[in-house]
Amino acid sequence: MSDQQPDTHAAAGGQATVARIYDYLLGGKQNFPADREAARQLIQVVPEAADIAWSNRLFLRRAVRVLAETGITQFLDLGSGIPTQGNVHEIAQAIDPTSRVLYVDIDPVAVVASNEILTGNPGCRAIEGDFNRPDLILDALDDGDPATVIDLNKPTALIYCAVLQQVPDDRITDVVAPIRDRLAPGSAIVISHLSAAVTDTYGEDGVSTAKNVFRARAATEITLRTDEQIAALLGHYRTLAPGLVPLNNWRPELSEPDPYATAPGGSPMRGVVATN
Ligand SMILES: C[S@@+](CC[C@H](N)C(=O)[O-])C[C@H]1O[C@@H](n2cnc3c(N)ncnc32)[C@H](O)[C@@H]1O
Repeated sequence: MSDQQPDTHAAAGGQATVARIYDYLLGGKQNFPADREAARQLIQVVPEAADIAWSNRLFLRRAVRVLAETGITQFLDLGSGIPTQGNVHEIAQAIDPTSRVLYVDIDPVAVVASNEILTGNPGCRAIEGDFNRPDLILDALDDGDPATVIDLNKPTALIYCAVLQQVPDDRITDVVAPIRDRLAPGSAIVISHLSAAVTDTYGEDGVSTAKNVFRARAATEITLRTDEQIAALLGHYRTLAPGLVPLNNWRPELSEPDPYATAPGGSPMRGVVATN
């Protein structure tokens, strides 16, 4: 699917997907011309789009590292995306090689690419699934299907990174609460989310144009949320320091500097990690 490969997808009038647009922004090769065109349109309104994506990945790595260091060995990553460098299982297994990771994504390209790099890693799997149907994800986990690799009776980190802005307000609680509230004591939730404050940087018109790119090119509605609305997704969980903050301010590490490290106002995404 690189630039050099034949493009049957475009020939078939293919649509972009969020997973592949994001992959392109991260410099990946798992994308088609329709995805690259959508990404280019996005960059015209949000020139920092690739920085936003990288800042998100760096937050995810730090959050997983911190949770793995506290002893969590199971990670349920919903809307996990196409693998890139420093994936959840690599970070977690560097700390505890027995760590188990279940990646769930609606995009088959993400699932196939994830399972390719998970060959020979029996504790980790990727499955196709819809985070809008937590009942089905819980059914699969409860059935004890070995493909799901996670035992919900043990502490688990539930990861929603850069995904919940794809869920509208009238469904968000029904999407997040069932799995969040089912996790065993000692579990955690990791959320990164596009902030409503992004309007301060790109203006109402810029935000509206960017939303239109996702709507028209990837059939995806984007819902921005305030800090208060994002915090409400944590339910009874208690936030770890430093709380809900711009991603670059969540336990920054000098070894992996965030693209927003010195930017006034920081990342337009918020990040939070909380435990039950
Ligand atoms: C912006 S990417 C984020 C990827 C990864 N979580 C990260 O932070 O690097 C959003 C991902 O959510 C996936 N996604 C979108 N809607 C989904 C759904 N209803 N169920 C599962 N995955 C979904 C997309 O396919 C894409 O891989």
